[in-house]
Amino acid sequence: MGTKIIGTGSALPGLTIHNTKLEEIMDTSDEWIRSRTGIEERHIAVEETTTFLAVTAARKAMENAGVSGEEIDLIIVGTVSGDMCFPSTACQIQEAVSAVHATAFDINAACAGFLFGLSIVDAYFYAGRAKTALIIGAEVLSKMMDWADRSTCVLFGDGAGAAVVRKEEGGILSIVQGSDGGRGMALTCHNRPVNNPFVRADNTLDYTKMDGQAVFRFAVKTVPEAIRQALAKAGCEADEIKYFILHQANIRIIEAVAKKLGQPDEKFPTNLQKCGNISAASVPILLDHVNRAGMLEKGDKIVAAGFGAGLTWGAAVIVW
Ligand code: UT7
Repeated sequence: MGTKIIGTGSALPGLTIHNTKLEEIMDTSDEWIRSRTGIEERHIAVEETTTFLAVTAARKAMENAGVSGEEIDLIIVGTVSGDMCFPSTACQIQEAVSAVHATAFDINAACAGFLFGLSIVDAYFYAGRAKTALIIGAEVLSKMMDWADRSTCVLFGDGAGAAVVRKEEGGILSIVQGSDGGRGMALTCHNRPVNNPFVRADNTLDYTKMDGQAVFRFAVKTVPEAIRQALAKAGCEADEIKYFILHQANIRIIEAVAKKLGQPDEKFPTNLQKCGNISAASVPILLDHVNRAGMLEKGDKIVAAGFGAGLTWGAAVIVW
């Protein structure tokens, strides 16, 4: 028995902010953002919360899969930007989709969140502990940006993507995942500081900070290695893969990965031009866009890969 994706969904906030709008509020340019990243615009939450986006994406994935809430026995949400510390976003989704029999929890693997979620679901299925799972990546990163720091805030966007996964023949052929906490300080955002009657705390909220070049170097080295490992584990050649669904951080990273794998850029669909980087939501949103565009047929082999803060990474070879 395998771990098969049987439905996908996604949700984006209604407001789109083009690079030219950012030119009006900070010292940046459409030319810089496009040429360095490929990003043209991003969706920014105004009234939408992380939970709202996650629930919307989850409902669409369930509809796409033809699965009811009662059938779902596991809900995993990858997020670094939940609305509440607790209850988890996953428990709030459980309530919203009436998944009364599910176990629900969040994981923090940043931009690799969807891949880590897939790996956990695969392990649950293998252990016989679940049969139908909902995996969601959901982020409102705009609230975690320092909008005075042009080196980070222009890169990120908001949204959610979801997949319904069932214990069925086919599906995941292999998954690899990894972490390197030793390089974790390359991409950070502190939670609230220790603050109680016994210690004075500066209660200023922290925002996302990134050593962009360090993360760039990590990505272009680690992602092709992880994909090669996943391909070897699956007994597949890169040429057999129809699409590589990569985390949408930077078009230059995606092109570098394509080059290292000796694969044409056309096999790497992108939506970063319109969505920016949405951390854990990037991979499932792109997967949903590709799925709904009718680009996937039963039996197609695809690779999904995520990478980001932690540092963390994951890659999977999947039969559609
Ligand atoms: O999802 C998590 C994973 N994250 C990533 O994968 C991000 C990986 N890193 C990157 O994508 C790239 O490193 C960035 C897009 C973040 C930056 O591109 P870069 O080519 O590495 O630029 P840089 O940081 O070396 O900055 C070059 C110049 C600097 O000016 P000086 O020092 O050369 O005068 C920056 O101050 O560009 C300047 N700069 C900007 N200029 C206009 C930085 N941000 C901006 C901006 N607009 N928004």
